[in-house]
Amino acid sequence: MTPDADSAPSSPAPGGRVLTVTAGPPAAGGTFVARHEGRVVFVRGTAPGETVTARLLEDPQAKADARFWRAEALDVLEAGPDRVPTVWEEAGVDGVGGAEWAHIALPAQRRIASEVMQELLRRAGVTSFPIEQVQVEPAPHDADGLGWRTRVRYAVGPDGEVGMRGWRSHEVRPVGEDPLSAPAVRALRLGEWTAPEGTEAVDAVAPSAGPASVVLIGRDLDPETIEIPESWGDADVAVRTGRGLVPLRGDGTVHERLGERMFTVSATGFWQSHRRAAELLTEVVDSALHAPRGGSAWDLYGGVGVFAAVAAEQVGTGGSVVSVEGNRRASQLAAQNLEDLPQVSTATADVTDWVRARRGGVDAVVLDPPRAGAGVELMGLLAGAVRQRIVYVSCEPATLARDLAAIEGKGWQVKDLRAFDLFPHTHHIESVAVLERSAG
Ligand SMILES: C[S@@+](CC[C@H](N)C(=O)[O-])C[C@H]1O[C@@H](n2cnc3c(N)ncnc32)[C@H](O)[C@@H]1O
Repeated sequence: MTPDADSAPSSPAPGGRVLTVTAGPPAAGGTFVARHEGRVVFVRGTAPGETVTARLLEDPQAKADARFWRAEALDVLEAGPDRVPTVWEEAGVDGVGGAEWAHIALPAQRRIASEVMQELLRRAGVTSFPIEQVQVEPAPHDADGLGWRTRVRYAVGPDGEVGMRGWRSHEVRPVGEDPLSAPAVRALRLGEWTAPEGTEAVDAVAPSAGPASVVLIGRDLDPETIEIPESWGDADVAVRTGRGLVPLRGDGTVHERLGERMFTVSATGFWQSHRRAAELLTEVVDSALHAPRGGSAWDLYGGVGVFAAVAAEQVGTGGSVVSVEGNRRASQLAAQNLEDLPQVSTATADVTDWVRARRGGVDAVVLDPPRAGAGVELMGLLAGAVRQRIVYVSCEPATLARDLAAIEGKGWQVKDLRAFDLFPHTHHIESVAVLERSAG
């Protein structure tokens, strides 16, 4: 697998050369490896074992010396065993991005994602955990992988049309039934609405409590001129301009219920997208963290305090938890969400800077970085500072694998590693690694 297959920038060459190829094992970015005249071709829109015609994304003459080419499947000549009718007609080659496996059976998506994850761990050199045991598990009660997206950013085209961009394309394309989005997002029917001039994107949120939310994003939008369509029902509405968030209806926040606790989140702030994700990850972190009663814990990349709440219950009022988050608004909301827990304090800081400046250790840490991962420096700092356990929640297995290999080299071992399909019909994987000091 070559992780840079997905990251090399290029725009599709219209009318690119068409090849006939047979797709083999999965590669990064939801593509599959094929070979043409000895050269590797990463093909999108296909599935293992099938033969397709595929359009090259680069000009083969200009890229004659390239190590690999990239291509998009056009016609299926011989379907592979995992192909099913797509769950989203508008997704795929020449359609919207963000559902690149919509034509692959859900169990097969998880099998393929498991192979990708295992290969990334192997390549990074992770040795302390039996890698073949890592299998991507479905989210609880998710039978069809539809209706899960509670956070959707729509793109807006030049005439105000609302849709999503194509894969590696700036073109805004219609979303049709938008089947991955949660029912409350679909009910807004944003794909049928024309956004006012100057709108660059539209965020829709279906929170677990309270009304849905719509935020129009545009540097120069004038909030006074926005007319709220009837189809948005009682949804809260805000406008985010270059000067900040201006609520038109509601207060610019949404509410999420997790067990007994309510969390307030900024309407454009981070919350796990899959409707079951926060609940599932909270349970997994709760059973893995083992923060001692009366002890100390850090929740790094803490957002609005989801895992800090878990750690706080474990250490009790005689212990201490710090939630560290770089976004000032999220950090303020974390303090507000957890104000009934005197053992919790919040810090608004870059996580690595904050940990580097810390004197003394901590019993347990949960960290949940963005896709870039924690990084080798932070893993080294944590290896020295944490006395008992680290629980690493990751949305990008490539950077997780790098970071696990780094901390293994510093006397830690992977005690458990679970992966979850929290982004069905896409190639993305959520995972949770539990780390302990190696014996001896
Ligand atoms: C994947 S989210 C996790 C949030 C939270 N744990 C949750 O589950 O809701 C990552 C969070 O890290 C924050 N973040 C990103 N880079 C950061 C950094 N270098 N230092 C501190 N926080 C950062 C983002 O603002 C975001 O809230």
